[in-house]
Amino acid sequence: MNNFVYNIPTKVYFGENQLHNLGTELKKFGTKVLMTYGGGSIKRIGLYDKVMKEVKNAGLELFELGGIEPNPKISSVRDGVRICKENNIDVLLAVGGGSTIDCTKFIAAGAKVEHDAWDFMDLSKRSKINEALPIVDILTLSATGSEMDSGGVISNPETNDKIGRLDENLFPKVSFLDPTNTFTVSKYQTACGSADMISHILEVYFNMNEDMEMLDSFMEGMLRTIIKYTPIAIAEPENYKARAELMWTSSWAINGFINGGKRLAWSCHPMEHELSAYYDITHGLGLAILTPRWMEYCLSEKTVSKYVQFATNVFGIDANQEPMAIARQGIEALASFLFDTLGLKRTLQEVGIDESKFAIMAEKAVHGDTLQGFVPLKKEDVENIYRMCR
Ligand code: NZQ
Ligand code: ZN
Repeated sequence: MNNFVYNIPTKVYFGENQLHNLGTELKKFGTKVLMTYGGGSIKRIGLYDKVMKEVKNAGLELFELGGIEPNPKISSVRDGVRICKENNIDVLLAVGGGSTIDCTKFIAAGAKVEHDAWDFMDLSKRSKINEALPIVDILTLSATGSEMDSGGVISNPETNDKIGRLDENLFPKVSFLDPTNTFTVSKYQTACGSADMISHILEVYFNMNEDMEMLDSFMEGMLRTIIKYTPIAIAEPENYKARAELMWTSSWAINGFINGGKRLAWSCHPMEHELSAYYDITHGLGLAILTPRWMEYCLSEKTVSKYVQFATNVFGIDANQEPMAIARQGIEALASFLFDTLGLKRTLQEVGIDESKFAIMAEKAVHGDTLQGFVPLKKEDVENIYRMCR
């Protein structure tokens, strides 16, 4: 096993009625606050007014950036950077889903440099992030784990790029995770959020090196939790228990804990980011379509044991069968969960994606060479997987 560093520096307030701590937490970083949010859901659910009240009671000066898009665009990052620089902002308050929090992370970094924020993402530049403004967030959608990780993904429609980046300066300082703030998340976004969490876990679980039994068990437990509680959250949007289980799982699926010392490279995420970059589809939906096909493509005599573990421990598939049969039933069970139980669309065609860009998307997904994931994938492999999703 490899050595590893575990460091998740985000303080979490989990549960209902914790927002009275917001002012105290923000004041630790200064008095000028830039609040960021998306297309308006926080106003519809009454959260905007609650935040206003807390910020005003704390005597803080508030600035706002609304309208951050799903698959956040670099233009929103630039808008936020400008507001920070013009007003000497001390701390950022992101209120929303992963898109708002991701955008805020790069506003926080961009506020500290003179160059354009896209230089952080641009693969030919990858400008260093030496510091960032502190970020506090209030999460409203369980999915990406941005509330407790150091990553973010930004899109540039001019170049059809959607690029992710991790940096330890980007961890939120404080996250407010109140499951009631997710009661209004639609059935569709709830399903997509769970598909995203599942993928975050499977990207780590399906690796052939240095498995730690304890971490595998933890991942299987999280997968069973998502499988149990997502249909409940969809049927009963205000079921606190279901929303809470999903919320805490979203954070732990990607905060680094499950990595242990594994040497990791993800596979479905780079393939999905190209779909979102070219077609602006919902991240979790793209992952749902890709994941079972990727699993099918990577199944072989060499990899089958991991599938058997997955199928039996996550879906309870009968272990008294040939390994290949067990593996295939595990993949089918996952596909059935995503497409039949959660009701997500099962093909690229159904979401308006044809073959015309498969080659360019595959090329960009492998960054010109190979995706070094569970099974190394060349450009041709990625194209084959896209084709399986037609
Ligand atoms: O924009 P508003 O009006 O807020 O509406 C949003 C949006 O339309 C809505 N919504 C959010 N909370 C709601 C709500 N509607 C009703 N009630 C609420 N409580 O949901 C829609 C989707 O929101 P968005 O923030 O885009 O979703 P998500 O949290 O899934 O974020 C997706 C983005 O995160 C990136 C994805 O690529 C994508 O760009 N990712 C970030 C990661 C990270 N930081 O580590 C990892 C992930 O793998 C992922 O790549
Ligand atoms: Zn994801």
